[in-house]
Amino acid sequence: MQKPVRIAPSILSADFARLGEEVRAIDAAGADYIHVDVMDGHFVPNLTIGPAVVKALRPHSKKIFDVHLMISPVDPYLPQFAEAGADILTVHPEAGPHLHRSLQSIRALGKKAGVSLNPATPVEAALAVLDMVDLVLVMSVNPGFGGQSFIASQLDKIARLRAAIDASGREIDLEVDGGITAETAKLAVKAGADVLVAGTASFGGGPAAYAGNIARLRAGP
Ligand code: DX5
Ligand code: ZN
Repeated sequence: MQKPVRIAPSILSADFARLGEEVRAIDAAGADYIHVDVMDGHFVPNLTIGPAVVKALRPHSKKIFDVHLMISPVDPYLPQFAEAGADILTVHPEAGPHLHRSLQSIRALGKKAGVSLNPATPVEAALAVLDMVDLVLVMSVNPGFGGQSFIASQLDKIARLRAAIDASGREIDLEVDGGITAETAKLAVKAGADVLVAGTASFGGGPAAYAGNIARLRAGP
């Protein structure tokens, strides 16, 4: 069942020189999850942060650390991110070689497991592992950068996943990531998403704007 909307600000758009403060500020402003975008310059054309930064940030918030791994290979790094304090570890099927094995490893580490679909990745990639996941992340931009425009064709994928998740009877978050604004948030929630990742729209305007930014994203259809 679709739950009340939760907001997952992506710290990719935070001020990296003050990351601890930024996490505290976005937590206080009402963030539900702290979304951490991990990129390796190989699976995606950008480099961001690794487990040491997750570990350093962990004491700054008790919120759920939602760690989105855009790295390949991913399996060798799962224990480090688990140990660093991630609550949810999300992987892409293309990170390979064996998605089901990666999800098993995440669960064996005692963490929640997520699968993420790129815009061109068919919905079936998630359906094949629905019994193994706690979260499905639909990328509404190509992964790699903040500040891109929402790809509207992904709304149909969200709707199909909403139906499949409801039919499964399991508690699975349906998260959308990329190009989320107050306007696209409404479309995504209407299609069935219940967790919204937002970088630019969360951190725009500096700390004084964060609470208003999150409230606007949460407003719903
Ligand atoms: C893209 C990342 C997103 C991104 C979202 O690869 O997974 O989380 O930071 O940024 P905005 O909200 O600015 O599109
Ligand atoms: Zn992300």
